[in-house]
Amino acid sequence: MKGPGGHDERASDAAAGIAESVLKSSTRKHLAGSLAERLARQELSKGRSPREAVKQVKGRLHQLVLSFEPGPRAIADLSSKLAAAGHDRALIKEAALSGLELHSSTRERLPYMEEFFGFIFGGRGFSSVLDLACGLNPLAFPWMGLPEDAVYDAADVSDLCGSAIRSFFDGWGIDGSFIRADLAEGLPGGGHDVALMMKALPTLERIEKGLGFGCVRDADAGHVAVSFPTASLGGRRKGMETFYGEGFEEYARASGWSYEKMAFSSELVFLVRK
Ligand SMILES: C[S@@+](CC[C@H](N)C(=O)[O-])C[C@H]1O[C@@H](n2cnc3c(N)ncnc32)[C@H](O)[C@@H]1O
Repeated sequence: MKGPGGHDERASDAAAGIAESVLKSSTRKHLAGSLAERLARQELSKGRSPREAVKQVKGRLHQLVLSFEPGPRAIADLSSKLAAAGHDRALIKEAALSGLELHSSTRERLPYMEEFFGFIFGGRGFSSVLDLACGLNPLAFPWMGLPEDAVYDAADVSDLCGSAIRSFFDGWGIDGSFIRADLAEGLPGGGHDVALMMKALPTLERIEKGLGFGCVRDADAGHVAVSFPTASLGGRRKGMETFYGEGFEEYARASGWSYEKMAFSSELVFLVRK
């Protein structure tokens, strides 16, 4: 039977059931249900059996989210360290640095972090930031060179890092927020000066073709900083800089945006003015 939106209601029910069973596990319960359900719908529409679809959805959630993030115990330790640091900035910085080590994306950025944020924020007068698909990147605030009273809103489909990010914002005194948000369902608004999409575009494109580029287009911000990994998780370069860089430049030119770009040892970043 077709529902009002044209979806097959039985297929939707089956996808919801798959999502529920996949997210029951303590290793995945912190992920947004909408993403698991979307992936389940996609797998079922390829003609896979529910059993095969479950396997595929688990694998894709690993690839899209779980492979980057630390385990719950490491995050709980980080949250305790941040809570124990109170408002002591030296201790908060020490804890934040250990947190940045925990997520693969921020760990790779550590060697050039200050230069990287200097390129994005330096002398541009930005005072509000929207960090999309943020991972643990908000913990880098002390190295960003932003004004003390900058607004910093962050979102990720995984809630795992949320408690650590919130306790970091409280301790440092940042006017910030973290929400669990699935960007495939829509973008948080707020008219920020700049939106960050750090290493997120290739991940989003794997969920649905056009999703990552669409987020850059639709982000409610005057500038969008988009970065791409140029070394794989295992550390080997695979011509990724050329592949992502040229594809993005073509898209930016076709959209009529101006941009600046800078290459770092394992990341290529574009600052787009829309
Ligand atoms: C490669 S990591 C980048 C993390 C962070 N932006 C950084 O560079 O430090 C990709 C991030 O995308 C998030 N993600 C994946 N699918 C998402 C979705 N549909 N909506 C929001 N975030 C998503 C993952 O949880 C992960 O934190």
